Amino acid sequence: MSKTCKKHCNPHDRQVLLVGGAGYIGCPVASLLLESGYKVRNLDLLTYAHQNAVMGQMLSPDYKFQFGDMGCPKALNEALNGITDVVLLAGLVGDPITKQLPDESHQINDIAVKHCLENLNGRGIRNVIFVSTCSNYGKIDENEIADESHALEPLSAYARSKVEAEKLILSSKGKIDFHPTILRFATAFGMAPRMRFDLTVNEFTRDLYLDKELLVFDAETWRPYCHVKDFARLIRKVLQSDTAKTSFEVFNAGSNDNNFTKQGIVDLICDRLPGRTIKYQKNSADPRNYRVDFSKLNNQLDFHCKYSVADGVDELITGMEEHLFDDVEARKLYYGNYGIVAH
Ligand SMILES: NC(=O)c1ccc[n+]([C@@H]2O[C@H](COP(=O)([O-])OP(=O)(O)OC[C@H]3O[C@@H](n4cnc5c(N)ncnc54)[C@H](O)[C@@H]3O)[C@@H](O)[C@H]2O)c1
Repeated sequence: MSKTCKKHCNPHDRQVLLVGGAGYIGCPVASLLLESGYKVRNLDLLTYAHQNAVMGQMLSPDYKFQFGDMGCPKALNEALNGITDVVLLAGLVGDPITKQLPDESHQINDIAVKHCLENLNGRGIRNVIFVSTCSNYGKIDENEIADESHALEPLSAYARSKVEAEKLILSSKGKIDFHPTILRFATAFGMAPRMRFDLTVNEFTRDLYLDKELLVFDAETWRPYCHVKDFARLIRKVLQSDTAKTSFEVFNAGSNDNNFTKQGIVDLICDRLPGRTIKYQKNSADPRNYRVDFSKLNNQLDFHCKYSVADGVDELITGMEEHLFDDVEARKLYYGNYGIVAH
């Protein structure tokens, strides 16, 4: 165990700032960290009027919510007071919303993210986890599988911003006093307090459950998927790991078993919900196609995902059977990144 790890290895001595912690992935991360004894602070701009998502966590004396913009010096400075670790999740997330709102996307994903990353030095912070995306790989050859050394080919403003942030972090070696780790997340699925039904597994499952006709674009394209609870476990794992294994490291975040084509996901859902109508269209506007290798995570951090795509589909079907999502149409913004609110 390294010196730094000894100094901070007790979760009770750690106060983790989640930037963007009210989002789809941030809420499960906050819950797991609280459950594991960490103190959690959440700086979030509540871009989708999703404040209800944090109400459960407000019951914990170890949780503090701060409304604010990571791009605002005063808000960020206040949020960082007494913090031992930072997880940067905030952003305008996904290709559709960043295409729809290019100026806001630039302001948040480029300017505010850079401001946040450049203000973490000299504060005695141990870990900084930057949440990036496997979308950075863009479109790779059919027979290839991308490990962390694979060339990046970001095909959208969303992914280009992530690649720039990664470069900024990796170029700061020798100039900063904290240990940064970059996690390139697969596409998320599974139930969480701030659900997103604009993501493939969740969207397909809901539409087919409701017996809507599903239009699938480029059914043979590959993507990796990961349950939000596994992302939370991984963030905890990085916080617990010896920094010698995580400092300035990039990890693909997900599991080899959860690389799927869209057709594979449709088949899985239709095994459970037979007789649905699926239509197909080729050559969509989204050319992304990537299979990803997650062995580094297994080998270097001894981290293994627990949940399969099938687990996520089952869980979502149960949620719908139990009427947990009857209000999706009435609260569109809460349930996906379709548009933002002005505060
Ligand atoms: N969901 C996925 O499939 C997926 C896949 C790969 C990577 N990621 C990455 O994971 C992270 C979280 O994604 P998510 O699905 O939870 O998205 P999300 O949109 O649900 O959450 C983003 C959060 O950031 C907050 N936010 C936005 N701008 C802010 C600002 N200026 N200051 C403070 N808070 C701000 C929002 O209010 C929201 O709570 C993102 O960095 C995303 O790029 C997500």
